[in-house]
Amino acid sequence: MKATSQTEIHSYLQENRIFSPPDAFSANAQISSMEEYRALYDRSIRDPEEFWSQIAEQLHWFRRWENTLVWDPPFAQWFVGGQTNLAYNCLDRHLLTARRNKAALIWEGENGESRTLTYFELHREVCKLANVLTDLGVKHGYRVGIYLPLIPEAVISMLACARIGAVHSVVFGGFSAEALRERMNDAAATVIITADGGWRRGGVIALKQSVDEAATGIPSLRHIIVVKRLDHAAPHSWVEGRDHWWHRLLAVASAQHDAPPLDAEHPLFILYTSGTTGKPKGIVHTTGGYMTQSYLTTKWIFDIRDTDTFWCTAEVGWVTGHSYVVYGPLLNGATTFMYEGAPMHPAPDRWWSLIDRWGINILYTAPTAIRAFMRQGDSYPAKHQLASLRLLGTVGEPINPEAWMWYHQHIGRERCPIVDTWWQTETGAILISPLPGAVPTKPGSATLPFFGIVPDVVNRDGESLPAGEGGFLVLRSPWPAMLRTIHRDAERYAKQYWSDIPGCYFTGDGARRDADGYFWLMGRVDDVINVAGHRLGTAEIESALVSHPQVAEAAVVGRPDELKGTAIAAFVTLEAGTKPSQLLKQELRDHVAHEIGSIARPEDIRFAETLPKTRSGKIMRRLLRDLAAGQETVGDTTTLEDLSVLACLREDEET
Ligand code: WTA
Repeated sequence: MKATSQTEIHSYLQENRIFSPPDAFSANAQISSMEEYRALYDRSIRDPEEFWSQIAEQLHWFRRWENTLVWDPPFAQWFVGGQTNLAYNCLDRHLLTARRNKAALIWEGENGESRTLTYFELHREVCKLANVLTDLGVKHGYRVGIYLPLIPEAVISMLACARIGAVHSVVFGGFSAEALRERMNDAAATVIITADGGWRRGGVIALKQSVDEAATGIPSLRHIIVVKRLDHAAPHSWVEGRDHWWHRLLAVASAQHDAPPLDAEHPLFILYTSGTTGKPKGIVHTTGGYMTQSYLTTKWIFDIRDTDTFWCTAEVGWVTGHSYVVYGPLLNGATTFMYEGAPMHPAPDRWWSLIDRWGINILYTAPTAIRAFMRQGDSYPAKHQLASLRLLGTVGEPINPEAWMWYHQHIGRERCPIVDTWWQTETGAILISPLPGAVPTKPGSATLPFFGIVPDVVNRDGESLPAGEGGFLVLRSPWPAMLRTIHRDAERYAKQYWSDIPGCYFTGDGARRDADGYFWLMGRVDDVINVAGHRLGTAEIESALVSHPQVAEAAVVGRPDELKGTAIAAFVTLEAGTKPSQLLKQELRDHVAHEIGSIARPEDIRFAETLPKTRSGKIMRRLLRDLAAGQETVGDTTTLEDLSVLACLREDEET
């Protein structure tokens, strides 16, 4: 069937009863019907403390909490007085069970090599690194940077930090030296764990070289631990006493390590994400609440079983990698699968071959990847059985019905439910999602809130909007995995998230609710853009552009893109005397990639004499967005002198 419109797709699904999940899934561990979901949801929001307490009890605590929630808006503390250890819960807890020698982690590298670590083996490596870090002087609360490719050492590093109470801050390996420096400096990291390089699309990413470049600007940095990943490493320097090979340190480290009890509110990680200013925000997550919610969402939303191999395709540098590559699956004693390389490298059917060869049961990925595969045609997945798959998930951006349908037919073989999961770096875990076997899906909708979560669609005054009306997506009450603050900037935390809409956490997303109460996400409504499921701040890209000596001013907006969801379009005015040219465009693109990373490289650059501004001097972004989307044609594509005329015409609209 070739359905094109959403209505056609809906009727196809209804006729084929795809809305009612197959019997195999009615076995969802706890929730097996919509009635059950509704009853438990009602209970969970009537008494969230009771609900979350019961869940937290399923995990190991060295000391039980006294207060489940202390809510001093906008600051929340969960499981106050309780002591636990996240790494203990991910590893040690399983060592006394049949999971002891089960694969905790299966990894395949881009070049086809693979490694499997059982719970026992992973525990040993984590204990060794915990001892190494302690010997290097890393204490409780110190920050450790992790700048690695997607290799098992990334997981070992995160768990070792969590184990000793050091705060990890993972920086995606695709970020530049400059981006790394800015983040590590804000975190005041004393140690960075990196590799001599990583593989991506057959090429080598020179990670250690970037760390060397960044290191001179990070005064707090004392040690760099380097994983040997390549036979012929990219050139990099070596500073005796500061730089250490991972394998040398671990070879002599003891594998005995007792996980210390840590306070529930002990900081677990800082993850930098883009906001509406040029400066990335260090989102702070703590131990007990994050643990409880990443555990439960993995268990119920992915209906995880002991036999499951779970593949979340995210890099660990993003929050999805934290919660659903590492912590969620390991807390549940599942097997987590990691693939280092790019999706279509070296062969276009690489992913489908991985699923086939490793017997993957759950695949969790982003709509952009699905659209890219869809574009390649149906023949690549068709070459593989994919019989092991029983559940699919998506995250990171709204999924268009066409991509949903393709995923459902060609990957899920009309057999696997799809969970479209909405959440953010700040929320720590999934907040809106279907539950397989209970909450029926509608393609393109993240459906209903998870237990204990109270989302709403409101206007600027915080008033709930009726079904069908678009507005701001907010959360009305605190949840265990919520961010606690922005690192070193509690004021920005309060202002950014809790002041726009009275009494609510504002997500920055637009949404509407349908007559069944289902949530439909409509994209960001602030100056954040979502490129291929990666979050970028327009202000960050603008400041990268203006740091180029020939740029006077820049404005960056998103424009719709069939593949990436949103593409980056930049409007640039040049310093007097500089001539626009194709060469300069290329130079500016490369400059942004150098300043931030290639994910931020603008797709379009347009030179303009002036940028359109309102009388009060505000850049007219809506006008630029329309222009970038090609909804209005003005002059040619290289110079846009008519902008000021257009600006006058549109002034009233934008003020
Ligand atoms: C978007 C990624 C629609 C949203 C976990 C949010 C989504 C931003 C969905 C957070 C979804 C995430 N449907 N949009 N299922 N999931 N988003 O912090 O705009 O990298 O605010 O966290 O991604 O991106 P972040």
